Amino acid sequence: MISNMTRNPAANARRRFLRDCAGAAIAANAIGCAHWARAAADAPAAASAGAMAQGQPSRTAQGAAMLRAAHQLIDTPRVFEDALALNIIGAEAQAALRQNLARYAERASLRAYVALRSRYSEDQLALAVQRGVSQYVVLGAGLDTFAYRNPHAALRVFEVDHPATQRWKRQRLADAGIAPPRALTFAPVDFETQTLGAGLRAAGFDAARPAFFSMLGVAIYITQPALMSTLSQVAALAPGSEIVFSYAVHDALLNAQQRAARAQAASRVAALGEPWISYYDPAALEAQGAKLGFTQVATLTAQNANERYFKGRADGLRVSGSSRLLRARV
Ligand SMILES: C[S@@+](CC[C@H](N)C(=O)[O-])C[C@H]1O[C@@H](n2cnc3c(N)ncnc32)[C@H](O)[C@@H]1O
Repeated sequence: MISNMTRNPAANARRRFLRDCAGAAIAANAIGCAHWARAAADAPAAASAGAMAQGQPSRTAQGAAMLRAAHQLIDTPRVFEDALALNIIGAEAQAALRQNLARYAERASLRAYVALRSRYSEDQLALAVQRGVSQYVVLGAGLDTFAYRNPHAALRVFEVDHPATQRWKRQRLADAGIAPPRALTFAPVDFETQTLGAGLRAAGFDAARPAFFSMLGVAIYITQPALMSTLSQVAALAPGSEIVFSYAVHDALLNAQQRAARAQAASRVAALGEPWISYYDPAALEAQGAKLGFTQVATLTAQNANERYFKGRADGLRVSGSSRLLRARV
C-alpha cells in the first residue's frame, strides 16, 4: 500500500478527511462532504497525497469506489449491482466501511449519484452490445470493476487511466485476488499530455469498429481542451460508437446552498492535488457535441434519473446533485 501517513494522529486525521472529501466531491454538490470526512476517519490510507502529475494515484478513485461499496451494503433494492465493489476497495477499507456503516448511510444522495452513473452507463453499454458493439473503453477507470464481471461474452474491454492510477489499480487487483480477464487491456493515458487515439492504438483497439465509451467522475478534474480533444476523437470513430460521461454544471446554475457546499468542498479537494477545474453549461455542451459530429446527444438530468431509477423506493433514495450525464452517439 502506498501511504504517506505520519505518526502525528491529527495530521493523519486531516489527511483522511481531505482524502475522503475528494471522494465525496465527485458528485460536484458535495453536500455530504462533512459526513464523508467523518466516515473517512475510520478508513485506512489507500493512496498517498499529491497530484497524479507527481506520480501519485488518484485518491478520488478510492473515494468513488468506497461509495459504490457502501451502496452494496446499505441500499435495498440496489440501483447498481457490483459483486466486486467491496473486494476492490481493499481489506482495510472494507473493514472500516462495515464498522461505520451507519455513518456512511447518512448522506444518501451522493452515494445514489455514484451508483446511478455506473448503472446508467452499463445500461447504455448493454444496449450498444445489442446493436453489435464489441469494444468498451472505460475512460478514467479508477477502481471500476466492470471488466472483471463483464457479462457480455464477445465484448473486449479497454481500461484507460492516468498511468499512476492504473499502476495502483493493478496492484490493488493483485492484492484482492482479482485476475484481469483475457478480454481486458490496460491503456495508460494522461488526457492532458497524451492523446486517447495513440493510447488506444498501442493497446490494440480496432478503430474501424464501433465502440462504447464511459467517462464517469473525470470531466471535472481535466481541462476543457482535454475533454474536447477526447470527445472529438470519439466523435471521429466508426458510426454507432457512443460515449456516456458525467460533468458538473456551472455555479450559475446552482442554488445558494449548492454553491456554498461546492466552494467549501472545492477548496478541500484542491488541497489534495486533484482540484475541480472544469464546469459546463448543459445546452452549450450538447451543442458542442453536435458540432464535433455526434448525431444523437442527450442529457440525463437528476429529475429524469429519479423518475427512471429511484421511483417508488421506500427509503427515499434519490439523486439531487449538480452533475449531469451526457450520452452522445456517432
Ligand atoms: C473520481 S475518479 C473516478 C474513477 C472512476 N471513473 C469511478 O467512477 O470510480 C477520477 C479518475 O480520473 C482519472 N484522471 C484524472 N485526471 C486524469 C488525467 N489527466 N488523465 C487520465 N486520467 C485522469 C483518475 O486517475 C481517476 O481514475
